[in-house]
Amino acid sequence: MPNISIQVQDLKKSYKDLNVLKGVNFSVERGSIFALLGSNGAGKTTVVKILTTLLKHDSGTATVNGFDVALKPDHVRQSLSLTGQFAAVDEMLTGQENLIMIARLRHLKNPRQVADDLLTRFGLTEAARRRASTYSGGMRRRLDLAMSLVGTPPILFLDEPTTGLDPEARIEVWKVVKELANSGITVFLTTQYLDEAEQLADHIAILHEGKIIASGTLQELKKLFPPAKVEYVEKQLTLEEIFLAIIGKKENQ
Ligand SMILES: Nc1ncnc2c1ncn2[C@@H]1O[C@H](COP(=O)(O)OP(=O)(O)O)[C@@H](O)[C@H]1O
Ligand SMILES: [Mg+2]
Repeated sequence: MPNISIQVQDLKKSYKDLNVLKGVNFSVERGSIFALLGSNGAGKTTVVKILTTLLKHDSGTATVNGFDVALKPDHVRQSLSLTGQFAAVDEMLTGQENLIMIARLRHLKNPRQVADDLLTRFGLTEAARRRASTYSGGMRRRLDLAMSLVGTPPILFLDEPTTGLDPEARIEVWKVVKELANSGITVFLTTQYLDEAEQLADHIAILHEGKIIASGTLQELKKLFPPAKVEYVEKQLTLEEIFLAIIGKKENQ
């Protein structure tokens, strides 16, 4: 399947007695933004860790960029980059030094050029020679994103990219993520924010109690619930209302 970037089938994972993933299925199209949406503790980071080879699953299959995560972990790792909730930025170094360091670690040919191109792309040229400790939360997250793109991996994993950011910085990160997807990179992001999924994602999958309980484009998810008619005006459901309705429905079963 050349246009499928990530494929997950019947994925299961327990931590001792705690069944976190109870048979998870989804696929992610190449070049799209896919949001795995779920509350705190739903198992989002567990999925990300399995897909990025940091954690072994119990059963089921997962392929990333056509490589099975259990059988070809090295190929999988070369296909991706991971940015976590906690930035990997070295505060003592400048933005430019941080990027050059990663470019050197990845054995790229012209580390300085790579760094400068990314600084430009992420609007950090002016701050390039300042220590990262002086950066705002949004600038730091942008630097972190830039660092994860050194060497241009085809798939980018973002585990709660805007958790802990103020509203302005969140919007900055959203803009960067959209630009990345426009440049052809596949973005797999997790979020507990409905508005984030609504803003960014081409495809949304809701992880709840160990399973994907709903999945589709925002429009498809909206179709699960016919709009409520308020007099003559059709009320558009927000993702939040859809999410609560789906979960409510599940819990009442
Ligand atoms: N290494 C671990 N050992 C035991 N339990 C864990 C471990 N990692 C996560 N958990 C538990 O598994 C559940 C899912 O965690 P996680 O995948 O981090 O969820 P999310 O990222 O959606 O918040 C939580 O109940 C969490 O406490
Ligand atoms: Mg998490």
